[in-house]
Amino acid sequence: MDGMVPAGTLPSPLQSAANLAYGPRLMTASPPPRTFHVKSFGCQMNVYDGERMAELLTTEGMTAADVREQADLVVLNTCHIREKATEKVYSDIGRIVKEGRREDGSVPLIAVAGCVAQAEGEEIMARAPSVRVVVGPQAYHRLPAMVAEAAAGGRATETDMPAEAKFAALPRRRKVGASAFLTVQEGCDKFCTYCVVPYTRGAELSRPYADLVSEAQALVEGGAREITLLGQNVNAWSGSDNRGRPAGLAALAEALAAIDGLERIRYMTSHPADMDDALIAAHGSNSKLMPFLHLPVQSGSDRVLKAMNRSHTAESYLRLLERVRAERPDIALSGDFIVGFPGETEAEFAETLQIIDEARYAQAFSFKYSARPGTPAATMDGHIAPEVMDERLQRLLAALQRHSLAFNQASVGKRCTVLVERKGRHAGQWLGKSPWLQSVHFTGDVALGDLVEVDLVDAGPNSLSGRLVEIAAG
Ligand code: SAH
Ligand code: SF4
Ligand code: F3S
Repeated sequence: MDGMVPAGTLPSPLQSAANLAYGPRLMTASPPPRTFHVKSFGCQMNVYDGERMAELLTTEGMTAADVREQADLVVLNTCHIREKATEKVYSDIGRIVKEGRREDGSVPLIAVAGCVAQAEGEEIMARAPSVRVVVGPQAYHRLPAMVAEAAAGGRATETDMPAEAKFAALPRRRKVGASAFLTVQEGCDKFCTYCVVPYTRGAELSRPYADLVSEAQALVEGGAREITLLGQNVNAWSGSDNRGRPAGLAALAEALAAIDGLERIRYMTSHPADMDDALIAAHGSNSKLMPFLHLPVQSGSDRVLKAMNRSHTAESYLRLLERVRAERPDIALSGDFIVGFPGETEAEFAETLQIIDEARYAQAFSFKYSARPGTPAATMDGHIAPEVMDERLQRLLAALQRHSLAFNQASVGKRCTVLVERKGRHAGQWLGKSPWLQSVHFTGDVALGDLVEVDLVDAGPNSLSGRLVEIAAG
């Protein structure tokens, strides 16, 4: 393989792993990639995985390219949750091949990672000859070796879901932004009838307590002031603390709250069935746990919820919210909704509008039902016409928008701490997040990562404007 590297090119560390055999060497060999671009679609867990892949490739001696089409290696970290998300992958592959073609006719090495890789690995390899690596969400620690194999002229696929975690094989985290993600739990055992996640991410697996505390410490040393704990069902996380006692997410959040320099802890996504007493109580007692809860209900109709295999009813969900609000009255509630689940009647949809009014969401995500191959709902009767779904989605969005606006307007007049996350569009303008995860824009002399006091002065449905008060100590 050395002979295939053009004269004058420095050998890449990736070459050392190139003799691992993952597939036949059918393609033309290319020099080992030196620059990469990772693009993540889908949920925050994919964003976290994308960051870890980038760190891994950096440790292997590669550098991040600013422009995707100029990168030697493009990693598409994909999402399979809805049909549209999946189709995006194929159109992106076409675009990279077209726009990334070099003068010598070569194209960037394309790797497909994430949930589409897991679910449709073979199909991708067959449909898209330009894809040279397919790597599932549990196997991406092997990415460098697979890329080396592909550069040597092969094609590599790895979609095993081994029970042992990949995390141990990843490099220690170094430099991160002020707000960082930390995956604590992966996979899902809930099997909602519409959802692919249990198939693409596998069974629920909690990372060990000690590993998480140490990764959180590394994130804080690397600059994080806020950590969002991630999991497909994050509140199902369980482990044992450093004295061997059983620990749930509340105990983990308590341990992280003891880390100096870490100011804010968040978690998502939670399942109503796993919202235990300790976690509810933590919202009243752990001052670093932010007043925000992403707790998807999906529908307000008990018949639909049962057909979805959600374990809650509209009533049990509302009672749960009451208990959380008793601990933290100002909590900002977020959720997910699906409109047009098979068989959903107009009256059942009206029950979803009703629960929105009763639960009072500060923000939410809503989706048209998308039939996913292999899921039970895909073969249910009563699929809803697209125009009916469109119309219901519009009404749902209008109801949610009304509540977001009301929630944000109720914040006007409050003084709160904002974590500065990025520069705004105008000179001197900054964007940050309130404790309730609202976007707040303001002007002033601050820096990225500062926690600053801001008076909230005006509100729209998606953001607030604020006036800077003073830079908080520390
Ligand atoms: N584990 C989380 C999130 C899973 S995926 C949870 O249970 O809440 C994020 C959201 O995508 C889901 O909450 C659901 O609202 C939506 N979703 C999942 N499968 C879908 C499908 N087939 N069609 C439309 N929306 C879907
Ligand atoms: Fe999907 Fe349901 Fe699991 Fe959430 S709880 S990931 S919606 S199966
Ligand atoms: Fe999508 Fe996989 Fe996340 S399907 S939503 S990227 S778990």
